[in-house]
Amino acid sequence: MSMKNDIKLLRITYLRGPNIWTYRPALEVWLDLGELEDCPSHVLPGFNDRLIALLPALAEHHCGVGERGGFLQRLVSGTWMGHVLEHVVIELLNLAGMPTGFGQTRSTSRRGVYRMVFRARDEHVARAALAQGHRLLMATINQQPVDVPAAVALVRAQVDDSYLGPSTASIVAAASDRRIPHIRLNEGNLVQLGYGAAQRRIWTAETELTSAISAGIASDKDLTKQLLKSCGVPVPDGEIVGSADAAWAAAQDIGLPVAVKPTDGNHGRGVALDLTCEADVRAAYEVAQLHGSEVMVEQFTRGHEHRMLVVGGRLVAAARGDAAWIVGDGHSSVAELVDGQINTDPRRGLAEDCPLNLVETRTDENILLELQRQGLTPDDIPAADRRVLIQRNGNVAIDCTDTVHPAVAHAVSLAARVVGLDVAGIDVVAEDISRPLQAQGGAVVEVNAGPGLLMHLKPAVGAPRPVGRAIVDHLFPEDTSNAAGRIPVVGVAGSQGTQTIARLVAWLAHLSGRYVGLACQDGLFLDRRRVAQVNCAGFESGRRLLMNVAVEAAVIENGAESILRDGLAYDRCQVGVVTDLDGVHELAEFDVFTPEQLARVLRTQVDVVLPDGVAVLNAADALVAELATLCDGEVIFYADDPDIPSIATHRAGGGRAVFVRGGQVVLASGAAETRLARLDRLTHRDGHGAPSDTLRPGVLPAVASAWALNISPDLIAVGIETFEADLKPYFAEPELLAAG
Ligand SMILES: Nc1ncnc2c1ncn2[C@@H]1O[C@H](COP(=O)(O)OP(=O)(O)O)[C@@H](O)[C@H]1O
Ligand SMILES: [Mg+2]
Repeated sequence: MSMKNDIKLLRITYLRGPNIWTYRPALEVWLDLGELEDCPSHVLPGFNDRLIALLPALAEHHCGVGERGGFLQRLVSGTWMGHVLEHVVIELLNLAGMPTGFGQTRSTSRRGVYRMVFRARDEHVARAALAQGHRLLMATINQQPVDVPAAVALVRAQVDDSYLGPSTASIVAAASDRRIPHIRLNEGNLVQLGYGAAQRRIWTAETELTSAISAGIASDKDLTKQLLKSCGVPVPDGEIVGSADAAWAAAQDIGLPVAVKPTDGNHGRGVALDLTCEADVRAAYEVAQLHGSEVMVEQFTRGHEHRMLVVGGRLVAAARGDAAWIVGDGHSSVAELVDGQINTDPRRGLAEDCPLNLVETRTDENILLELQRQGLTPDDIPAADRRVLIQRNGNVAIDCTDTVHPAVAHAVSLAARVVGLDVAGIDVVAEDISRPLQAQGGAVVEVNAGPGLLMHLKPAVGAPRPVGRAIVDHLFPEDTSNAAGRIPVVGVAGSQGTQTIARLVAWLAHLSGRYVGLACQDGLFLDRRRVAQVNCAGFESGRRLLMNVAVEAAVIENGAESILRDGLAYDRCQVGVVTDLDGVHELAEFDVFTPEQLARVLRTQVDVVLPDGVAVLNAADALVAELATLCDGEVIFYADDPDIPSIATHRAGGGRAVFVRGGQVVLASGAAETRLARLDRLTHRDGHGAPSDTLRPGVLPAVASAWALNISPDLIAVGIETFEADLKPYFAEPELLAAG
């Protein structure tokens, strides 16, 4: 059979927020199977066997059947290639070390055309996995050679390039555990946790509470020691030197043995320890001055290297290092022994998520120096059973958090406080960390800002410590008003008067004293200033508001199209409004033709309502009213007519509703009713306001939303009466427009 089969990728959309498929970002792919529509998996000769041979773990995929081997069953009984592609892509992501939990493939109204979607934390990674999966599947179908490891390597390279580093990832994961949202602010490790005014930024393990002055102090080891010493934290005596002669003179002053190191180095580069003679001190000086701006000579403190992590004044993790040694076998060289005995440790590697570095015997000057002091070079062959010291420091990986003496914990938290760091990695040298420092001659040798967390997350020995969580708890203390990292977000979906609703709610929130951001069809508004005059309903503008540290409440309008194209700008919201299911005729390109299908799009707005939030739904539209069952929080129905069954039933169950009776707007909570004001009075405008029929459809949902935000009925009534529908007063000053 000669085959020119191809699956065409018609359209690829990265859905950046909650969408019709899932709460999380996802890649949606429209694909055309072409002639393969007639060739499900069991029809192509040998296809299933070839595929499983290439990707054996596909046999583990559950798929719809809901159990291990589920996907295999589907292959055997016959499934279409869009669905197969979904599983190939998911498997490639698994193999690349970035597993994804979710995938789906659905047919469309066009024969042979499918929508395939999978969860994707990162767009670049998702696109790479799709491209490789597509190539791999086509080659398998067409019986061409396939290089799975190469495909996996390409995806993994994209993961390494695109994804957060391990320390940042651990903090973001801990925030997610606490349901605190995050927004990545650059391609690197700068991340916003929380929204608007409630946010806190982190940059790797530095936080926005980490002061620049403190970080500056920490980067100067000599200055740090002076400050610590003045507060009674034990530190080694030492001085800064400007030449090898001065280094040797200082060493004699201080008393041997000494340590020689750069004043502002890191990762142990250029640090020489336990120096006992003039030649070694001079050689160490030369190495140290390559790695920093100045060189210091200090008392050598005997004992193990420790790294203590202090967060918010509390010791949260401690790890100990061991010196790295090799043992001679009588025929291998030092370099070979290092590779065979040290670098074989699976925890060592060059990748960012390896807790220990590879030991580079030939290029690390300190190792060369250490060997020289033992009369060796990397090519020498140590006698059998001879122990050779390779590295004294740099191998902190043994968790010892539970053994730290309280006095040591106190000393290191004091050290963090003296330097002024909220998150600090403190290097302590001591024989026994379960005893106070002074008694054993232990000392703090360095304080680090933005410390790496890996040694605590993936210790070589001992239990991982929840250090990401400690940092999140420090930034968002549990028992404070900012525990959730959230500001009130109101999302408005539908087509009838949605921009009026959005503007009314923003106005009412403004009157209640908040700095309000508003993104709607009329533009982007910051605290009543109009900073953009184009249609701003949707993802981009919504994100702009949530990233803005001034914004204390955000109102974001979302049309169906923006939900289909981008997803929602927020993971969850306080209030979600759905007004109606009109406008399906504009959505044919998304394969949406009926109100029922549109309801499945707009439900996203209800799905994301927080458990303590409220869905505001139009009870007069039966399909909209049905969305109530999807809401994790409360529901407030609105409709002109108080007597329609959905409102009556909802109130009978104690629910809240907003409606009109006798010309008056009524807030009902179960059987209790509060009269707000006469509707005509609320919507009447004298001359320069908008005519009441513009305002009218927005009033009830806006009242309900404001009520959901706990704005008092009196303020709501006054606010609606004084609302300026005219956009003129909102025009920004010219320079702001230019900047906007
Ligand atoms: N005065 C000293 N006495 C004993 N060991 C030291 C001394 N200074 C540094 N060290 C050891 O060397 C390691 C690296 O030194 P450090 O000052 O922390 O430099 P870096 O900034 O490169 O981490 C320390 O963790 C410690 O184990
Ligand atoms: Mg250090």
